[in-house]
Amino acid sequence: MDRILILDFGGQTAQLIGRRIRDFEVYSEIVPGDRDIKAIIDSDVRGIILSGSPDSAWVAGAPAPDAAIFDIDLPVLGICYGFHQLVLADGGEVLSLGYREYGRAPVSVLLDELLFDGIPREFMSWMSHGDSVVTLGGGYEPIGISKNGTVAAARSLNKQFWGVQFHPEISHCEHGLRLLENFVCGICHAGREWNLENFVKQECLKLQEEVGDEDVLLLISGGVDSTVVAALLLKALGAERVWLMYVDTGLMRKDEGEEVEDILRSLGAKNILLVDAKERFLGRLAGVADPEEKRRIIGDVFIEVQRNEASEHLSGNYYLAQGTLYTDVIESGEGVGDKAHVIKSHHNVGTPLVRAKREAGELIEPLGSLYKDEVRRLGSILGMGDAIVGRHPFPGPGLAVRILSDVTEEKLRILREADDIYISELRSRGLYYRVWQAFCVLLPVRSVGVAGDTREYGCVLALRAVLSEDGMSADVFDFPMGDLLEISTKITNRVKGVGRVVYDISSKPPATIEWE
Ligand code: XMP
Repeated sequence: MDRILILDFGGQTAQLIGRRIRDFEVYSEIVPGDRDIKAIIDSDVRGIILSGSPDSAWVAGAPAPDAAIFDIDLPVLGICYGFHQLVLADGGEVLSLGYREYGRAPVSVLLDELLFDGIPREFMSWMSHGDSVVTLGGGYEPIGISKNGTVAAARSLNKQFWGVQFHPEISHCEHGLRLLENFVCGICHAGREWNLENFVKQECLKLQEEVGDEDVLLLISGGVDSTVVAALLLKALGAERVWLMYVDTGLMRKDEGEEVEDILRSLGAKNILLVDAKERFLGRLAGVADPEEKRRIIGDVFIEVQRNEASEHLSGNYYLAQGTLYTDVIESGEGVGDKAHVIKSHHNVGTPLVRAKREAGELIEPLGSLYKDEVRRLGSILGMGDAIVGRHPFPGPGLAVRILSDVTEEKLRILREADDIYISELRSRGLYYRVWQAFCVLLPVRSVGVAGDTREYGCVLALRAVLSEDGMSADVFDFPMGDLLEISTKITNRVKGVGRVVYDISSKPPATIEWE
């Protein structure tokens, strides 16, 4: 199958580049940026993209591509840091000019050029860089320029090499997708041969081959990802060998356990282990307020509970399957290039058991290279209805990361009741599917209020509702004010302990979607 290689230098968007290319139905593969070029190129490779990076290309010891790439007879596109690498290798100059360019930035196209085919001569790009190209070497000419006069894009005079300072893969970059498509399909002529239907076929074969006659254990979180993995495992391996474990951590939403069991039965699951571990989780979390500490404890207890249950129900070696998505991997700093910076340690990446299983070759993460929206489409292909695939994401550590202090039964009660009202209201007002993710957060502050003639000192609850494509970035949902006011009143009237409701108006970045 034709494919495009992405050399990953640790930029947060390396996987996003791959994902965009897959949207053109072209197969893409992401490899560490410093790989031996000869070892990764075969006759199916149609072109190479060099990703961005948090590093500075001009600093000694910065990750660099194998020098053989500069003699290659294939189209190459360098993005941001990747562009800087091309420029430096050609004798050009890249430096930190003392200012960062972050966000929307106008670009003017200088020449008719296949890379800009169908793109206006002026467009709004999206930049994220501290370093800039100061001078191009003799082998390149500028084809696009920023408003501040710096080179925004260039092409080689004698090779099929291009470079762009901006990030065409970011959805906020106007015409970015067209530019990538021009490169992948127009310049590289890569065949459109990849789609999710083929992914299902390939994954099923891969799972059958990998797992053989062994059993597989999958932890079900109640979210879309692990449910889709369950459907995929059941399709590939049948119901006998697939064990689905749902642990009630006491940190779940209202009626979640029953809902999850119904969903799993509807997928044809037979071996469902419902484990009540509320006391254990809440006991270990008592008095712990630090977010990373909470995540670590939850991850550890999960593994302990899972170990106990597994040894009771499963014999011998078993495979461990997880609904890990690429966003989980990259934000935990375990991206392909090992250079992505840690933002939050997601509990399902990197716990001791997971590491042990990974080392033993007994860890299965079939969604590890997919984004949320692809997982949803995968769920539909596997026959799951909208009610399941359209569910908002829910974090593994559950309500614990939505209580911004130590977790107690009382705080859980407040949050659960408020969240139930909020989500039911979104559904009944036709807003649920317009939002990518919505939830309540219980803040560690109290505020003065008045109920009847009495002074109350209640909790502050934040409502969050975001629009997103893949969880990597998010915009605030422009909530109709009338609905917001009515929902707020309903919550303060019905949930004892909530004195005030606020709406979170922060996008990601700079905030994250969850508050912890
Ligand atoms: P953030 O808060 O990092 O969240 O912007 C991005 C998406 O990931 C979910 N999330 C998690 N999911 N384990 C998970 O399985 C976690 O530890 C975790 N933390 C955040 C979050 O709900 C959002 O959809």
